[in-house]
Formats: sequence, structure tokens, C-alpha cells
Amino acid sequence: MISPALLNVDALSLVFKTRSGPVHTLDRVALAINGGEMLGLVGESGSGKSVTAYAVMDLLDDSATITNGRILYRGADLLADAREGKPSLRGKAISMIFQNPRAALNPIRPVGKQIADVLRAHRNMSATAAQAEAVRILMAVKIPDPQRRARSYPFELSGGMCQRVMIALALACEPDLLIADEPTTGLDVTTQAVIMDLLKGLARERGMATVFITHDLSLAAEYCDQIVVMHAGQIVECAPTEALFSEPRHPYTRKLIAATPQSDSEIQTIATVPGGLPDLSRVDLPHCRYSARCEMYEKACDSAPLPLRAVGAGHTVSCWRVK
Ligand SMILES: Nc1ncnc2c1ncn2[C@@H]1O[C@H](COP(=O)(O)OP(=O)(O)OP(=O)(O)O)[C@@H](O)[C@H]1O
Ligand SMILES: [Mg+2]
Repeated sequence: MISPALLNVDALSLVFKTRSGPVHTLDRVALAINGGEMLGLVGESGSGKSVTAYAVMDLLDDSATITNGRILYRGADLLADAREGKPSLRGKAISMIFQNPRAALNPIRPVGKQIADVLRAHRNMSATAAQAEAVRILMAVKIPDPQRRARSYPFELSGGMCQRVMIALALACEPDLLIADEPTTGLDVTTQAVIMDLLKGLARERGMATVFITHDLSLAAEYCDQIVVMHAGQIVECAPTEALFSEPRHPYTRKLIAATPQSDSEIQTIATVPGGLPDLSRVDLPHCRYSARCEMYEKACDSAPLPLRAVGAGHTVSCWRVK
């Protein structure tokens, strides 16, 4: 029997209730990741990367309704478990690093104590043991002089240090799956590399799986095993990294890659593709949400249901026109 993926997001659709009506934010989002792997989730701003992460973490508020699909963790259906009131795995087996590290930290508590709090809550440690373990974790995320830094408040630390503290907090629960939402945005290139190497090392040493959400295609190319490209709440293409860059199939992926600056560039934002994202509150949303921007568009795209076609090993594309 083939063992299930560590995380399998299966045809997940999600609608936000807003004052102006329902917004169809996610449409049959699918991705799968195994232990030790790093998956890059890329796409321009507003494409639904964070919302997908929040759905997995069960962090959505009441305005969001999951209208289709499943989230499977080691084969167990997390959405069904939540409905039945089973204890959540989120925070323990699955941790997340948020987009803005300084805002996610408590400004009036030393960072070592914040990590110790998590250790006491999740791993049932005594105060003394938790404090010692917090210092050990700060060392593991390569914070210099961790004993002293443990006593620092977030405002005393640089952006890169705060990000490492966030990673330390996420790792305190020894998660099997880490969702890192733009963990290196706003950091200089050297610090970026330190953080990415750290995450990669944890994947190797502990078999931790990482969903790496980013705007930065070149960073994803360098570190990820597979890449999932999102556009307006839909997955347009998914492939092993090598195949995605050598043989991109979806017109959107091709545009993104063609427009991506070289990795030594200072520009870290994902390239802009002409035309904006469609209005997701429209009642007549096309099957393919890229169709209005697509140079391969033809009339039949309006009626053809969006396929998820295999075009190579682990390589799928959501376009019926692509050969
Ligand atoms: N609570 C909410 N109510 C209504 N719409 C929402 C809500 N939260 C997010 N959205 C919408 O969902 C869409 C996807 O947002 P999301 O934050 O997932 O994008 P993203 O891909 O993470 O973008 P970025 O790269 O800028 O972080 C956006 O159009 C956003 O406005
Ligand atoms: Mg986001």
C-alpha cells in the first residue's frame, strides 16, 4: 500500500462572506507534501496563499466557509475531526511562521520566556527545563549569544533576529509540518540565505516538511523540491522544481518565469503579469480565472471545465489547451 502524503489538500474551495456578497477566494486548491520535503507555494499578491495556510492551520474566522474538499494530515481528515470536536493537531504537529514576525511576537515579554511558554504548554516542561530548552532552541536557530538574547525584548532585536525567534517558537513544538508564510520578506539577502539554510537543514535532520510561501521565484527555485503556482485562488501548475523551470507549461507560469529577475537582483517581488486578478465576487466567474489575461484564450475556455492534467511525473497543469 502507498502511504498517504504527510499533508494533502484536496480540492479545497473557500468562500468569504462579505458585506457586498460572497467572495469565491479558493477554488479546488490541491497540493501534497511528504516528510523532509520543501514545497514552494508561489503566486502574486492576493492569489490565496495565506488563506490556504490559514485553512490548514484552522485560523480562519466565521466569515470563511469551506464549501468543498478535504485537508488530510497523515490520511486523517482534519476538517471532519474539527467538526467532531477532536483535539487539533495544529500548533503541535503543524506550526506556522507568520508574514510579519515582529507583530506576531509579544512586545512586552522577553523572547526566551515566550519560547519557554510554548514549551510548558505543549511539552509539559517545568519552568526551569523550559528556559534551558528555549536557550538550546535559540542556539539551534543560530542566534549568537543565546543565553543573553533570551532575555531580550523583540524591539531590541533586528528583523532577521525576530524572524529566527519566530522560527524558534514554531520549532518549540517539534512540528512535523511547518508552514512558513514569506519568512524572509524584508530581510537582506544574506539573512535570507541563513534562514532558508536553517529550514532546509531541519528538513534534512528531522524529516520536517515545509510549505514555503513566497513571492520570490528564484528563492523557491534554489530551495524547494516542488513548486505549486497559484493564481486567483486556483492552482495553475504543480511540478518538481527542475521540471517547472525547464518545462513550464501553463501560460501564467511561463510569464512569471520569463519576467523573474536574476537571483542576484535586489528585486524580490514576484513579477507582474499584465492584467489584474479577476473580481472574485463576480457571479459569472469563468472556469479558468486566468482566461481574461491569457494569450492562449479562446472561446471554448469559457465552457471547458478546468482540468488538472498530468503532463509529466508529479507535473500537473490546469489548462486544457496546453499539450
Ligand atoms: N477575511 C476576509 N474576508 C474577505 N476576503 C478576504 C479575507 N481574508 C482574505 N481575503 C481575500 O482573499 C484573497 C487572498 O488573500 P491572501 O491573503 O491569501 O493572498 P496572498 O496570496 O497571501 O497574498 P500576499 O502575497 O499579498 O500575502 C484576497 O483577495 C483577500 O482580499
Ligand atoms: Mg499572504
